[in-house]
Amino acid sequence: MTVTVRVPAKVNVQLGVGGLRADGFHDLANVFFAVALGDEVTAGPGTAGVTLSCEGPDAGQVPLDDSNLAARAARLLAAHHGLAEPAVHLHIRKAIPVAGGMAGGSADAAAALLACDALWGLDTPAATLHDLAAELGSDVPFALLGGVALGRGRGELLEPLPVTGSYHWVFAVADGGLSTPAVFRECDRLREEAGLGATDTDIPTPDASPALLAALTTGDPKALAETLTNDLQPAALSLRPALAATLAAGTAAGAVGALVSGSGPTCAFLTDSAEAAAALAAALEASGTCRTAHPTYGPVPGAAVLPG
Ligand code: C5P
Repeated sequence: MTVTVRVPAKVNVQLGVGGLRADGFHDLANVFFAVALGDEVTAGPGTAGVTLSCEGPDAGQVPLDDSNLAARAARLLAAHHGLAEPAVHLHIRKAIPVAGGMAGGSADAAAALLACDALWGLDTPAATLHDLAAELGSDVPFALLGGVALGRGRGELLEPLPVTGSYHWVFAVADGGLSTPAVFRECDRLREEAGLGATDTDIPTPDASPALLAALTTGDPKALAETLTNDLQPAALSLRPALAATLAAGTAAGAVGALVSGSGPTCAFLTDSAEAAAALAAALEASGTCRTAHPTYGPVPGAAVLPG
């Protein structure tokens, strides 16, 4: 028997970053938005321990050892239930860009939690799965929840948000990833350089933008586009200056909104229809400012077991 879970990627339509906390994290006002571009994780019987395989265009960049967050998720779930060393194989069908700022590794971890829970017949309560997810990483709980949600704290304290309609996005994938901790460190450095200080006593805790929350209920991509913000964008652009050309190419080709996705380097573009998204993806690929560009839409639900 095997269990397959489909899990979405995310884009942050607001990423408000507070100062550096004593524990090394930053307080966030993080509005997560789940998109249909997603991975699939299949859990099946293994020989010994947790083994991994991966397929997809970026498969070569995915670690297949114990450092993979999906493997850690399987072990954490087993340990929580007092199961002896689990024997499970996880196969990842990877469509989410690796180290791209779309929470692909976190998505696979959320999918592994759900797939192993079903495979082992554990019936773990949703609240417990959320806590285990938060232990694995700041973005993992949202991959379970999906839709649109405000993430407070380091991103793990989630509140679902009302949203109207479906929005059409294009994601432009760069060559090579960016390290999330490196981008947060660069954000701190830029704030120090600007004389703002970088700690949580210098920088106020961010709040969700009322204009963004209102725009999400209009179903109007232009209204949402006007309220998109990402406090990590200057840091991502500082570490990868070529992203400015990607953002400019998307805007010139008719995107109604453009921003770096999370810690980057993937760039996200909002369009006003599925047709416009397909045309924009083709224009971005032709521009030579990205490796590939994927049209998609959202919001979509969180991680879910596929029938069959
Ligand atoms: O929680 P996660 O393991 O995904 O975080 C990766 C890194 O990103 C952290 O070690 C930290 O450097 C940075 N981070 C942060 N503030 C957050 C979330 C992540 O500084 N709220």
